[in-house]
Amino acid sequence: MLGDGLTALSAVPDGALDAVYLDPPFFTGAEQVSDCGRFDDRWPTLEAYLGWLRPWIAESQRALAVAGWFWLHLDWHAVHYAKVMADEVFGRQNFRNEIVWAYGGRRMPSTQRFNQKHDILLLYAKSPAARLTPLFVPWTREEYLALKRKPVHIDEDGREWIWGHAGRGQPRAYKIDVNDAVSRGRAVTSVWDVPILNTSDHERVGYPTQKPLELLKRVVASSVPPDGLLGDFMVGSGTSAVAARLLGRRFVVADQSVEAVRATSQRLEDLGVQVREGPWAY
Ligand SMILES: C[S@@+](CC[C@H](N)C(=O)[O-])C[C@H]1O[C@@H](n2cnc3c(N)ncnc32)[C@H](O)[C@@H]1O
Repeated sequence: MLGDGLTALSAVPDGALDAVYLDPPFFTGAEQVSDCGRFDDRWPTLEAYLGWLRPWIAESQRALAVAGWFWLHLDWHAVHYAKVMADEVFGRQNFRNEIVWAYGGRRMPSTQRFNQKHDILLLYAKSPAARLTPLFVPWTREEYLALKRKPVHIDEDGREWIWGHAGRGQPRAYKIDVNDAVSRGRAVTSVWDVPILNTSDHERVGYPTQKPLELLKRVVASSVPPDGLLGDFMVGSGTSAVAARLLGRRFVVADQSVEAVRATSQRLEDLGVQVREGPWAY
């Protein structure tokens, strides 16, 4: 939908969304400009910015289902202040993770500070009823064994195994089949190593601060159930909507920028979605 995202979000019935992902302007103090779009990120003061952000958080909380999830994507400019505010809205006990999106890129030695190469995604549960779907990434036998640092045994069928332990205070050892453990994949933690889109990336649509699809696929796959509904009311180039579509989830999205809605519509039409003006959900 083209228009003010907060108005669109406010029109969502109570409890209708399974997850909300918000990737607002970061309080950079600059206009964000790219080949095919721009958005303003200039604010008179930090207080003005936080005053603008607060109702987005409150309305997200209201619109979420009891078992829903809230993602707030920011960086060092304002995330610490926004965290305190989001704690007030969701309750500190419902804060679940500070996801560090470590994106790498060019490194320039500096004597002032270390290079900033990560964003933060704050993750809140609406209530203790919320359940994430754990994520796994592929890894090799060598990576697995390097982490375990245990001798590898081979049984009479030729299967490799190592000793595992049931955990602290539980001395009983058990056998772990190396092949099973490797093929299950490595559980994703709160640090997400996902490359940033480079200038020639085929995913790029020319909209400023476009996030990689891989990042949003993690958001969707972990927090939106297969028949669930994702809301993103500052959708920019449409990455969250594309991720939801590819993973078979429903979504409702908005942005106030004509270029953003154009980019989002184009990406969705390329996936066979018939885009129509809101209020709607796909
Ligand atoms: C950081 S970008 C989102 C980028 C997006 N996640 C992506 O992957 O392309 C922030 C977006 O918020 C939008 N925005 C800012 N204020 C808004 C408002 N009041 N209503 C709707 N969209 C808004 C901007 O137009 C911009 O597209």
